[in-house]
Amino acid sequence: MVRLEQLGAVGALEGGGVCRLALSDADREGRDLVRGWMEELGLRISIDAVGNVIGVRPDKRGGVTAPVLVGSHLDTVATGGIYDGSLGVLAGLEVIEALGEAARETERPVAVGFFTNEEGARFTPDMLGSGVHQGALDLETCLAARDRDGLCLGDELQRIGYAGDQPCGGWRASSYLELHIEQGPVLEREKQLIGAVTGVQGISWTEWTLEGTSNHAGTTPMSMRCDSGVVAALVLAFVRRLALDMGGSQVATVGALSFVPNLVNVIPKQVTMTVDLRNTSEASLAEAEARTAAFIAECAQAEGVRVRSRSLARFAPVEFDPSLVQAVEQAAGRLGFSSRRLPSGAGHDAQMFAPNCQSAMIFIPSAGGLSHNTEEFSSPAEIEAGARVLLSVVLGLAG
Ligand code: GLV
Ligand code: MN
Ligand code: MN
Repeated sequence: MVRLEQLGAVGALEGGGVCRLALSDADREGRDLVRGWMEELGLRISIDAVGNVIGVRPDKRGGVTAPVLVGSHLDTVATGGIYDGSLGVLAGLEVIEALGEAARETERPVAVGFFTNEEGARFTPDMLGSGVHQGALDLETCLAARDRDGLCLGDELQRIGYAGDQPCGGWRASSYLELHIEQGPVLEREKQLIGAVTGVQGISWTEWTLEGTSNHAGTTPMSMRCDSGVVAALVLAFVRRLALDMGGSQVATVGALSFVPNLVNVIPKQVTMTVDLRNTSEASLAEAEARTAAFIAECAQAEGVRVRSRSLARFAPVEFDPSLVQAVEQAAGRLGFSSRRLPSGAGHDAQMFAPNCQSAMIFIPSAGGLSHNTEEFSSPAEIEAGARVLLSVVLGLAG
């Protein structure tokens, strides 16, 4: 808890919450702090070419390969809370500390890692660092990613001193675990302390650019407009209706929308908007994508607006290792904590590891289901419960 609060003070926003966008000065400060703690705990630290940082506690023979890896991220959205990501990394340090205090030697190394740009709030896609680490994303393409101000990820890594010398994906974990806040309402609503996460739903992010014609708001007859703003509004309403119609786990969000020139008396020439679609079923996610694209094409044509699209992120749904999900559940039971299985609605670094090593996640409740919100909160008792489950599962895996 002390570390969580200290880290939460880095990039703290007035009135609560935190802004530590990936590779910003605040991210550097947060990274330096956590790296210092890793050093104090005697971990062998490596930094790779995309800025992922991993500290390893060797096994009882001094080996460092194929560790049980506990990881998450330190970057936040611009209006984030102090728990998303940080909790998983700092809980990993608690595990290392507990092993040290008990002078416990393990059959396998145990490692703690934090991965670059998990949020996707500054650079896209999200889970960028873990994606490169696990070979799902191309290093050079990711280093060339640009933020909204045109700044390049590779340059920003250099600037903050985290362009490491280790090749990406040079080693594999034997297993990967991530403790995270649920970021949704299920555990709290059902009064369950621990979530044994079964998988992560598929994620599709698309940026749509709508090109209309700027003209005078007072003089242009309604019948003669090519109004990109109107198309954007129709799309925004459509994706909500689509998600409600499709039901199941389908969700849809327009989270960013900008008008050019954004003036009271000018018909917007250009709109840039994002559509975030998610579903636990790949087929349903593909259907949502196709229906959205068809609707946008139809509306744009009717309004005389041109359309461009760019995929910002696309990840298929992932299922976690059934035996590890069960291990989480059993650990919760042994410790006397209530638990239930649930899928994750949010993206996580764990999903990038799942195809390559046995992986799972542990959730704890989020007050009011709030996350990506400065009010994000989980209680000390919930955090302790999650950390104890994590420790128990790590011990089972590390031997
Ligand atoms: C990452 O936090 C995401 O799920 O958007
Ligand atoms: Mn997170
Ligand atoms: Mn997040």
